[in-house]
Amino acid sequence: LKRVRVGVAGATGYTGMELIRILKNHPNVEITFLSSRKTVGMNLKEIRPFIDLELTLEPLDVDRVVERCDLLFTAIPSGAFTISKDLVKKGVKLIDLGADFRFDDPAIHDEWYENKIENYGELKRVYGLPEVNRDEIKKADVVGNPGCYPTSVIIPLYPILREKMITENRIVIDSKSGTSGAGHNPREDLLFSEMEENLRAYRVLNHRHVPEMEQELSKIFGKDLRVHFTPHILPMTRGILSTIYLKTKFSCREEIYRIFMDYYSEEKFVRILKEGYPSTKWVRGTNNIMIGFELDEEDGTLVVLSVIDNLIKGASGQAVQNMNILFDLPEDAGLNLPSLYP
Ligand SMILES: NC(=O)c1ccc[n+]([C@@H]2O[C@H](COP(=O)([O-])OP(=O)(O)OC[C@H]3O[C@@H](n4cnc5c(N)ncnc54)[C@H](OP(=O)(O)O)[C@@H]3O)[C@@H](O)[C@H]2O)c1
Repeated sequence: LKRVRVGVAGATGYTGMELIRILKNHPNVEITFLSSRKTVGMNLKEIRPFIDLELTLEPLDVDRVVERCDLLFTAIPSGAFTISKDLVKKGVKLIDLGADFRFDDPAIHDEWYENKIENYGELKRVYGLPEVNRDEIKKADVVGNPGCYPTSVIIPLYPILREKMITENRIVIDSKSGTSGAGHNPREDLLFSEMEENLRAYRVLNHRHVPEMEQELSKIFGKDLRVHFTPHILPMTRGILSTIYLKTKFSCREEIYRIFMDYYSEEKFVRILKEGYPSTKWVRGTNNIMIGFELDEEDGTLVVLSVIDNLIKGASGQAVQNMNILFDLPEDAGLNLPSLYP
């Protein structure tokens, strides 16, 4: 049986813990290295007693990773890590859950993030959305794992844009997310009393995921596209629901369903609803994206709805899917996770 030796940087965070949960049950993986920031020297089990993994948290150091890992997942804040070139040079593959490797143009990254991007040099890197870029992922050294909102938006739009079915170069997106999207560091605006019984928008038209969506959607469409995006946060832990509005040439629902099925009937993690609308609970705990839609037949306005678990298809599950592709393993190895319902 093929074995991949894997390290997780940021093991104590939300996406790091999700990675460990998935990787522990992956038939081809041995977890050989863990790092954190504040708890270096402690055993993971002391901090997270519910996970059965007796490994010490270490500093994030090139030599240790090179010695023990074929692959490193970096589940840490964007910009917290600057040793990627050294790792790649020594044969370690890298899957980064942050934004450091998602942008084709480093200047666009630097406009939206606090850190300046390191010089990528000759790094063979790829935007790691398997349903769109599978063949490029196979050849990459570094995978920039997509953001959670962009995952929920690009997968449903891919077939429609590839088939050139839109009539306006502008897409309106309204997304709702649970609080785990913000990670495990304490923040006043995420206190129970601020969140409970509350719903609010934030960063209207100004979220960091806008340039990421515009980059990928424009490449798919072959022309510049503008995205008008409003995210909301609501009192649940996991899940994203994105509602996407676009003007199209479609005149009947069946046509839309057929195009979705042409692209996605063979995809393990994409579920298209012929009728009805998806709920976040239907994908909670899974690597699935579930897509529903409705058409205004009079003017071609299409409303697409998608749901994902932000920590899985929006982060750690997708990262493991990318690992499976990189190491030529079955794409769903370790990822056949049934949904946690209710
Ligand atoms: N949460 C999501 O839904 C989601 C979805 C997609 C992508 N992402 C991305 O995934 C990454 C991790 O997110 P998260 O939600 O898991 O965050 P998190 O819960 O805050 O965890 C961050 C982890 O990184 C460690 N860390 C923090 N600062 C560090 C530094 N300067 N150097 C080394 N390690 C450091 C933390 O260690 P300590 O605990 O010791 O501080 C912790 O283990 C981020 O880049 C985020 O944007 C998150």
